[in-house]
Amino acid sequence: MTGQQAVEAAIERRRSVVNDAIDEDLPLDRPERLYEASRYLLKAGGKRLRPTILLLAAESLADVDPLSAEYRRFPAADGTEVDVLTAAVSIEIIQSFTLIHDDIMDDDDMRRGVPAVHREYDLSTAILAGDTLYSKAFENMLETGTSPQRSVRALSELATTCTEICEGQSLDIEFEKRGAITPDEYLEMVELKTAVLYAAAASMPAVVLGYDDAVEPLHSYGLDIGRAFQIQDDVLDLTTPTEQLGKQRGSDLVEGKQTIITVHARDQGVDVDNLVSADSVEAVTEAEIDEAVSKLEAVGSIDYARERARELVASGKSHLDVLPNNEAHETLDSIADYLIEREY
Ligand code: IPE
Ligand code: IPE
Ligand code: MG
Ligand code: MG
Ligand code: MG
Repeated sequence: MTGQQAVEAAIERRRSVVNDAIDEDLPLDRPERLYEASRYLLKAGGKRLRPTILLLAAESLADVDPLSAEYRRFPAADGTEVDVLTAAVSIEIIQSFTLIHDDIMDDDDMRRGVPAVHREYDLSTAILAGDTLYSKAFENMLETGTSPQRSVRALSELATTCTEICEGQSLDIEFEKRGAITPDEYLEMVELKTAVLYAAAASMPAVVLGYDDAVEPLHSYGLDIGRAFQIQDDVLDLTTPTEQLGKQRGSDLVEGKQTIITVHARDQGVDVDNLVSADSVEAVTEAEIDEAVSKLEAVGSIDYARERARELVASGKSHLDVLPNNEAHETLDSIADYLIEREY
């Protein structure tokens, strides 16, 4: 097995545990249409990278053998038992909420290979499904069985994370209307819209299990690898076929998104505001995207993005020293590389 296959197998194992737990923790309720819409994207697929990272961090901190991990009765530092799986589900529910609203804002029609929620249902239902998931994640996070003090901290971290995601998404939209932004402005935007959820995922086990010294380093690990993850997402938007991605290739170009790639290209004199002429994802052609990508490649912008992502991954890994030496620690190290090597 190659390193990448080992990471994929580690993710796959945890993904199936998380998927079963989602069914348990998010039952169908009434009105049926609202709950169906809320579960629709969760059912459609998704890589489950954030809950996987959460479970791995828990396994490593508690030095638990992954094969014997009983995530619903996980050993905390003080010897009590904590349900870390419910925390993992909360994080994935937040991910789902942000995706539903993101597709409305980005005017995207496809997600996880199926129509986006606002296309499959309607705009009002999609807004409500997102809101429902948002609040369900907090209800769920209350059920870890950790001490009241740690529970309050977990909810507080989750709330801060959600506020920051909204701030990041707001900057993302604002930047569409701006000319040049700096690499630092880009990095701040992606830290907020994307990396904070990775940071919450990585550090939440330290919070609920009571490993206080590990909270900060794991948070930093998540912030760095989360920024790298978003850079790779920006690269994949250009390079990966729609069918493989499960979302429309070239959407960022059509929407006029600022990415680290366009920030670099603008600096090299590329007219990034007119890379494609189409103003909708339906209208843009593969040939048009290919041509835009060639221009970006020619000035080294895609290589630049990959290099920045590699630096962030290296920095992220440096925070893992706080963990004991065990298999889950090694997997968290390799998953950081995987985030920027993945092809979908
Ligand atoms: C997509 O995240 C949203 C971004 C922050 C770029 P993922 O690529 O992890 O999406 P799923 O959960 O696997 O569908
Ligand atoms: C998404 O960023 C960040 C979120 C908070 C969901 P993108 O807009 O790049 O995500 P995709 O490419 O649509 O998945
Ligand atoms: Mg989007
Ligand atoms: Mg977006
Ligand atoms: Mg994207």
